[in-house]
Amino acid sequence: MTTLAVDFLGFHLQNPFILASAPPTNTVEMIARAFERGWAGAVTKTIPLEKVPVVNTTPRIHSIAFAGFEEEARRVYAFGNIELVSEKHADYWMAGITKLRRDFPDRFLMASIMADAGAKDDWVELATRAEKAGACALELNFSCPHGGMPPHAVGAAIGQDPTIAKRIVGWVRAAVKIPIVVKLTAAVTDLRQLGQTLIEAGADGFCTINSFPVILGVDLKTHSPLPSVSGKGNVGGLTGRALKPIALRATSEIAPLGKPVSGCGGISTWEDAAEFVLLGASTLQVCSAVMLEGYDVITDLKDGLLSYLEENGATQLSELCGKALKNVVPHSALDVRTRRVSAVDLSTCSRCGKCAIACRDAGYQAITDGADRTPMVDRDKCDGCGLCVQVCPVWECITLAERPAARA
Ligand SMILES: Cc1cc2nc3c(=O)[nH]c(=O)nc-3n(C[C@H](O)[C@H](O)[C@H](O)COP(=O)(O)O)c2cc1C
Repeated sequence: MTTLAVDFLGFHLQNPFILASAPPTNTVEMIARAFERGWAGAVTKTIPLEKVPVVNTTPRIHSIAFAGFEEEARRVYAFGNIELVSEKHADYWMAGITKLRRDFPDRFLMASIMADAGAKDDWVELATRAEKAGACALELNFSCPHGGMPPHAVGAAIGQDPTIAKRIVGWVRAAVKIPIVVKLTAAVTDLRQLGQTLIEAGADGFCTINSFPVILGVDLKTHSPLPSVSGKGNVGGLTGRALKPIALRATSEIAPLGKPVSGCGGISTWEDAAEFVLLGASTLQVCSAVMLEGYDVITDLKDGLLSYLEENGATQLSELCGKALKNVVPHSALDVRTRRVSAVDLSTCSRCGKCAIACRDAGYQAITDGADRTPMVDRDKCDGCGLCVQVCPVWECITLAERPAARA
């Protein structure tokens, strides 16, 4: 029997899909509703102590959107946000965790916590209260990109400093028995070294990754960064599809360390989910796709991933977990002997001329087109760089064919 069930940090999950710590886990009632829709787990919105004031701006969410080829409707490609941690404090969340664990004992519930970099007592208090409340595990938020919380180092400021991060993991490790997951930022130079340091300090697993620090855009009329809060803006967190390549890279760096990894960043489809699994993630966290499609996106995620398992002759995800890691190699180990050349399928070509323009002005001047814009490939000039394949608006119209004779 093929199953999506996975084991993660000693817990058995019905499927690998977990709601990330974010707006879809804003309240206890919302998490309960998501569990009813089929989510196997959730990470609470990051919990602050009662003494920490959390005042959000309005607005605090913006997006990068584009018009699809076939319709003019606005489609969101990525979000950027300057939202802080939960506006609800530890007292609300601890009671909520106990209730959720009682009502949904078979679901995986992680408490996301965050405190000041130097505040040992606060980290220990949050961790021990969450453990006592019944949280399955802790997720240490070392990765929020915007420094809007207390006027001290929090979030990514911790994840970017191995010494501070290690110290905090050590404090929490000494205080609780439940598993500790560290949610990482990819805005560091060496995730492998950081990950190893945190494992030595007691981390049981990782979440790769939190949102990435960006300025999403600038309003051309008001000159305000976006989202604009009365004409001013701040560095925010990039999420959604645009984040996926960064998150995949981070996952590929952390997974070889051998601890369980929860992949997170741009998972919108089952294909995205499968990519994270192949790079070593055993569970998958989702936020932006739910912000766009609602909790029911879980149905397509589960159905698609299950079919993928079946098509690959696997009975469970662990059989595919990390399968792509061996193919992530240094550039010097890549095959430079096999050469390829563009091949245009004229039966589907729309004669838009994009391939010829791209090849002329950013390639090898190998594609020319005539008055009717029918592309012709000069095989001697084509270097097989692949640019024409990528700029062509017709799926699979241009492909790269292997040249019969390899040249060095
Ligand atoms: C509006 C917003 C608020 C978020 N708040 C938190 C948070 O409180 N704690 C946290 O660890 N991550 C937070 N995140 C980051 C998400 O948990 C997740 O790491 C990120 O959105 C990438 O996943 P996605 O591409 O599926 O959205 C937030 C994301 C968004 C969009």
